[in-house]
This record gives sequence, structure tokens and C-alpha cells, in this order.
Amino acid sequence: MDDNQIRKVLVLGGGTAGWMTASYLGRALGSAVEITVVEAPSIPRIGVGEATIPNLQKTFFDFLGLKEEEWMPECNASFKMGVRFLNWRTPGTGQSAARTLPEGRPDQFDHLFGLLPDHDNLPLSHYWVQQRLSGSTDVPFDHACYRQPPLLDAKLAPMLPDGTPYASYAWHFDANLVADFLRRFATQRQSAVHVEDVYIGPEFDSRGYLTAINTESGRRFEADLFIDCSGFRSLLMNGAMEEPFLDMSDHLLNDRAVATAVPHDDSQGIEPYTSAIAMSSGWTWKIPLLGRFGTGYVYSSRFTSEDEATAELCGMWGLDPEGQPLNHVKFRVGRNRQAWVRNVVGVGLSSCFVEPLESTGIYFIYATLYQLVKHFPDKRFEPVLRDRFNAEVETMFDDTRDFLQAHFTFAPRTDTEFWRACKELRFSDRFAEKVAMYKAGLTVDTPVTDESNYYGNFEAEFRNFWSNANYYCIFAGLGLLPDRPTPVLSFRSDSVESAEKLFAEVKQDQARLLETLPTTYDYLRRLHSR
Ligand code: FDA
Repeated sequence: MDDNQIRKVLVLGGGTAGWMTASYLGRALGSAVEITVVEAPSIPRIGVGEATIPNLQKTFFDFLGLKEEEWMPECNASFKMGVRFLNWRTPGTGQSAARTLPEGRPDQFDHLFGLLPDHDNLPLSHYWVQQRLSGSTDVPFDHACYRQPPLLDAKLAPMLPDGTPYASYAWHFDANLVADFLRRFATQRQSAVHVEDVYIGPEFDSRGYLTAINTESGRRFEADLFIDCSGFRSLLMNGAMEEPFLDMSDHLLNDRAVATAVPHDDSQGIEPYTSAIAMSSGWTWKIPLLGRFGTGYVYSSRFTSEDEATAELCGMWGLDPEGQPLNHVKFRVGRNRQAWVRNVVGVGLSSCFVEPLESTGIYFIYATLYQLVKHFPDKRFEPVLRDRFNAEVETMFDDTRDFLQAHFTFAPRTDTEFWRACKELRFSDRFAEKVAMYKAGLTVDTPVTDESNYYGNFEAEFRNFWSNANYYCIFAGLGLLPDRPTPVLSFRSDSVESAEKLFAEVKQDQARLLETLPTTYDYLRRLHSR
């Protein structure tokens, strides 16, 4: 037996992060390691975090051996094929329907999952730019290159009637049901120990390593490795270990949300996408589930007050602000300087958070866990394991922060102080280079795999999380085009011509799928009543 093996892991916090951590480590480390989760029932979970991205199934649930049919009904889960951005280009207060752009089209675009097909070693996006800039098409990028937009309009499911998926998709779910489901999984099907108690303080050894935590009821919990999942309180990382939090509000302005749930008549259909609706000083999410949709206005307290934000959100959905139960959330944007310090690792909100525009919070949790397992220490805590892990988390975070920042900076709106302030934000040098590449017609972050394996190869995806298709969906959707087509296309008139076939296939697929797919509502009803 290896005397240096980690034997005891203590997880502080029982929100989405705490129970994802317990179940993931339980599966990765097996029964040789004792996992204890200490959760304060008196301190509620944040209660938001209901939209996800596609690798959740392959990277997290498949790893636990949980199929969609098992966990989805338990968590009231529905499907998400992407994010539909509404009113990011036209001025006005919050409204759930798309306004009209000067050219007569609706002010909306879709950020869809999945990669674009290649043609003659260039992604389809580049042929679209060539057509668009030469004036031979006025079809928007998403409609020209993806099959999904008309299917989203028709609220269809991302799979054929027999359950075969035809497009990449993710899930919407009830955050509390997910944490409860994973708690049952970790304690009943694995061997995690659940303790309901309130953390009050740490104990250290002479090297500054954490040895135990103490709780309100007078108990003491020793461990070799501690995982801080205490949410924004960050009790172990920012508290006990005094690790500084690097504030990044110079990249992203929003720091508050007001959230609520609105009952929904499902017979009108269930939208298989998250809506991100631009508001006066931020944006509002709409996350449809069976029987209700979750919604929340994410805003900047520098530019609007809680009352004004509440009034704008409630006005948009026709809700009475006095009678409606509202969850007011304050958040911080940034990350801990290091995600792992001595024998303490932060996971979830205790570690890092960018605002929820691209639903990356839960992804950050299992991506961090994946990296933790890959760099898992023994009691010697070799610095290189920690340093490599910290470098991975840092890149993961900063890359997403920059991508989100571009949504606000490139949105053409300048009608309020908030939108004007977004134009003043400075990009990191790394991101400024990506923008220059895009403008010059280059492929930004070429994916190292193709669509068939993108979500099945986490290592490759993690390294190239936002790739060319993502940049195109957002930049072109907001009206920002490359200055010119990639110059090499001027030598390839045969490729430009033959790319027409791919665009025609997209159109044919759209028409065929509109005829054959079940509605999201019908599909979910069947799934949930099994
Ligand atoms: P959370 O706050 O849920 O849990 C903290 C836990 O610590 C609780 O169990 C609490 O009891 C415990 N605790 C605290 N103090 C304690 C003490 N003294 N002793 C013992 N226990 C203690 N992500 C995403 O992927 N998609 C999305 O759509 C969104 N949307 C979103 C909107 C908004 C406004 C925010 C702020 C965040 C999101 N997120 C998100 C992020 C998502 O909510 C988040 O990643 C997960 O809910 C994880 O939360 P945690 O478990 O880290 O904290």
C-alpha cells in the first residue's frame, strides 16, 4: 500500500459544485478514498444555473454511468440547441419579441452548438463571407450555414422520433433538482458521507496546510485534501487560505441579477434554446422547462438600480413586482489567483465566475474536476501537479471571459450608458490578436477534430473550447464581418462554386427536418412519463 495516497477528501458545500465534485471524485477514485460533504442546510444554494453545454453528458454524466433517460426526468430537464440572441443590435428597453433591423430582418441570431463543415480545407464560414461581401447572398450566417434556426423557430426536438440526435444539443434543468439527484447518487450509489452542519473555522499544520475544519455543532473533520464548494463565500480559498480573488470587472460590467420563474402553458410548445434578450443595462435569460421558464435580468449596478432592473424584467413578462417571488443575486466576476493552493482546491463559484451569458458555470465545475483528476496529487503535493492544474484553469477562465466580453463590446447598441461603457472595455492582448485574425479573414482557433468527435474528445475540446464556429456565430450575428474574404479564395473559384452544394444541402436539410422531427414538447412528454 502507498502510504502517500490521499485517503480522505472533504468537500465544503452541497450546491451543484459540491455534489458534482463528490460524485465525480467518487467515480474517479473509487472506494479507497473517503469523501465527506459538509453542507449547511441553513445557507441556501444560489438557486440559479440551469442552462448547460453539450459535453455535460459525455464528460460528466457518461463518466458516472448515467444515461440521459435516467437523469433528465429526475431533474425536469429539457433540450437546448443553442442560445438565441434577441435585440442586441437595436435600441430600446427589454422586450421578449425581436425588434426589426433597418434591413427588415428580425434583430435576432443563434449561437448554435457543433462545428461547421469544411470544404476544400476551409470552414463553410469563409465561403459565406466571400458570398456576403461580394453581395451574392443576404442570408444571415446562422441560416446559411446551420440546419437548426428554422427548427428552433418551430420548437422542434434535436432528435428524430426514434431518439437519434441530428444536431448537437445541451440541456436546461432545475438546479436544485440536479444537486439533490447527485446527492442521492453520491450517498446511495457511491459511498459519500453527507454531513449537515455549518463550517466555522480551519486548523493548519506548521506548513500552512489545512488539517481539519470545525463546525458549529462542535465537530471536527480531518482530511488530506479539501475542496472548497462553498459558493461565492469561498470560505476555504479566499477565507482560510487567504488566496486573493482577481476581480475582472474591467472586462465584464455585470454584477447583479434578478431572477424568477414564470408558469408556462406547454401546449404552445417548448423552445429548445436559451434566449438572451438585450435590456437597457444588460440582458435577460429565458430558460424553458416543462411547466415553467426561468428568467433573470443580469445587469450592472453601476448603470441601473435593483428597482429599475426588477421593473424592466417584470414589465417584459407582464409580472407584478410586488407579488412575484424574486431572487436577487449579487455576483463577482473573476477568479482566484490560483485555483489550487497547498491542499485546498476551489471548484464552482468559490473559485471563479464569469457572468452567465454563455452558460459556462457548470462547465467550469466539471472541467475543473477533469483537470483535478488528471493532476491528482498524493500527500507529497508535488508543486508541478498544482502548477499545471492552475495553468489549465487560468486559461479556461480567461479565454471565456474574453469571448463574453466581445459579445458586449461588438454589440452595435449605444443607446444607454451601459452599452456605451461596453465599447470602452479593453480586450486582453491575446484576444485582440484573435479579433485581428477574424477581421483579416483567417480561421480563429481551428478545431483539432471534426463534428463527429468534437464532444467526445474532451481533451481536444478543452484546448479549443471557443473555436471558429463560435466566433462566427457571435461576431457575424452582431453584424461584425471580416474586412475581406480570406485572400486564398480568390485563387479558388472552383471551390467557391462547389461550396454552393453545401449551402444547398443546408437548405434541403432544413426543409426535410421541418417535416420529420417531433416537437420538443411531445418528445419531452414521452421521456418524462416513462
Ligand atoms: P452554491 O451557492 O449553490 O452552493 C454553496 C454551498 O455551500 C451551499 O450548499 C451552502 O449551504 C454551502 N455553504 C455555504 N456556507 C457554508 C458554511 N459556512 N458551512 C457549510 N456549508 C456552507 N451556470 C451555468 O452553467 N448555467 C447557467 O445558466 C448559470 N446561470 C447563472 C446565473 C447567475 C445569476 C449566477 C450567479 C450563476 C449562474 N451559473 C450558471 C453558475 C451556477 O449557478 C454555479 O456554477 C453553480 O450553481 C454552482 O454553485 P456552487 O455550488 O458553487 O454554489
